Amino acid sequence: MTTTSISDSNRVIIFDTTLRDGEQSPGASMNIEEKLEIARSLERLGVDVIEAGFPIASDGDFEAVQAIAKQSTTAIIAGLARSLTKDIDRCAEAVKPAGDRGRIHVFLATSALHREFKLGKAKDEIIKQAVEAVTYAKTLVHDVEFSPEDASRTEPEFLAEVVQAVIEAGASTVNIPDTVGYAYPDDYADLITYLRDRVSNIDQARISVHCHNDLGLAVANSLSAVRAGARQVECTINGIGERAGNCALEEVVMGMRVRKDMFGDVTTNIKAEHLFACSRLVQSITGLPLQRNKAIVGDNAFAHESGIHQHGVMKNPECYEIMTPQSVGVPQTNMVLGKHSGRAALADRLSGMGFEVEGDALNNVFTAFKELADRKKDIYDGDLIALVEQVVRGRSVSAWELEWLQTTSGTEAIATATVRLCKDGEAFTDAATGDGPVNAIANAIDRICSVHGEIEDYRLRSVTKGRDAQGEVSVRVKVDDVVVGGKGLSTDVVHASGLAYLDAINRASFQTVKTDFRDLSVP
Ligand code: KIV
Ligand code: ZN
Repeated sequence: MTTTSISDSNRVIIFDTTLRDGEQSPGASMNIEEKLEIARSLERLGVDVIEAGFPIASDGDFEAVQAIAKQSTTAIIAGLARSLTKDIDRCAEAVKPAGDRGRIHVFLATSALHREFKLGKAKDEIIKQAVEAVTYAKTLVHDVEFSPEDASRTEPEFLAEVVQAVIEAGASTVNIPDTVGYAYPDDYADLITYLRDRVSNIDQARISVHCHNDLGLAVANSLSAVRAGARQVECTINGIGERAGNCALEEVVMGMRVRKDMFGDVTTNIKAEHLFACSRLVQSITGLPLQRNKAIVGDNAFAHESGIHQHGVMKNPECYEIMTPQSVGVPQTNMVLGKHSGRAALADRLSGMGFEVEGDALNNVFTAFKELADRKKDIYDGDLIALVEQVVRGRSVSAWELEWLQTTSGTEAIATATVRLCKDGEAFTDAATGDGPVNAIANAIDRICSVHGEIEDYRLRSVTKGRDAQGEVSVRVKVDDVVVGGKGLSTDVVHASGLAYLDAINRASFQTVKTDFRDLSVP
């Protein structure tokens, strides 16, 4: 892959908003450690801009943006701000440790619906507020992006006026959000073309697109806009985001790469071989599992079931593969390590799959690997990835630990669970009944932790093939008003269920209700 400069006219800037818009997915809240881990992975992947949060939304968001700005070494670090002085000040302070790489992303809704029902403002007042916000932000940082929220439903003439005015005020990126996922590829491309024709100073800014997936068109719309001249795409890993999500980074990047014929000399800085590792990290941290048939990074993305396909793929992979699994970092399903493999071999294999695990984390993964090797004959890449995720995930939240559990259940028996948890060196044991063993375990954990969790979703997947495969349980649990994700991994699925439920309870204890930027009082 050839690298191009960020200012090259064919370079498409990849602006990742997993940590801001992605975090709006219900239950996807992350703590600072987890955000830092994802930010490191995004830099390894080569994203140009990381939107790290919305600093005015909460102290937690502010601290996360600041910590990511401090940690970052290559990416531009952006924070979101409404078009208000107090938001912009807070954002500037948060991105400051990134120095010249700090960006303030200011937004204000422009569509008739939002003007009338949300803001109660006339067109001229919107332009005035947007210009004042950009002008002010520009006094604090040199890199200012402006987003007219709900741009795709804004009258095009008015949108052009707004865009012209904010560029004049100093915005170096103008984003055209399809906030509610209403756009259609042809129309959206026409809108970009219209702005390029109509706005006389458009060459002084980069046109960005930000598509939501309500009609399943976020990637298609973004690609269409790039063909029309947009040179920044805002997206999230795995397409996570509120409602139906955002444009999926892995899909939009591979769309441009695989279909070079449609995009001319357009390039990105993404090192695609890290896509899979980054996708798994985000799944693991957010607890949001992917459907098996998810493009690029889903379990079935490179699986060939039918005999005819397999025959063709064996003779020449291009018969049925438009990209190789290796090109996006998907590990092969070979048995990789055995009981006698050492730490160096493990580190080597992990790094080959794009997981940089060092120090204590590597020791913990190695210990877990040895334990697993005692229980399971063949250890696959998938097993290793699951172990890494477990260690990474467990590192930041370990208030309560599961020491052991025991269940009895059956078609004619009342399910009963006895659970022993540990906290700060003290052990607590309790028992409960339930509709089944998982419910009984959850009830016993609730009794010990003095909480009440409602399991809203429960999923079990086999990490690899085989009867002794590890089972990975993902749950979404509502505790008071907070929905949190939990994960557990074990060769015993009942044990995995207990770990997943406890993981969610631990996470709930440090999370507060997430403030949606749209819920903050409107200026
Ligand atoms: O969807 C949207 O409009 C946004 C903006 C703040 C860019 O997320
Ligand atoms: Zn959005």
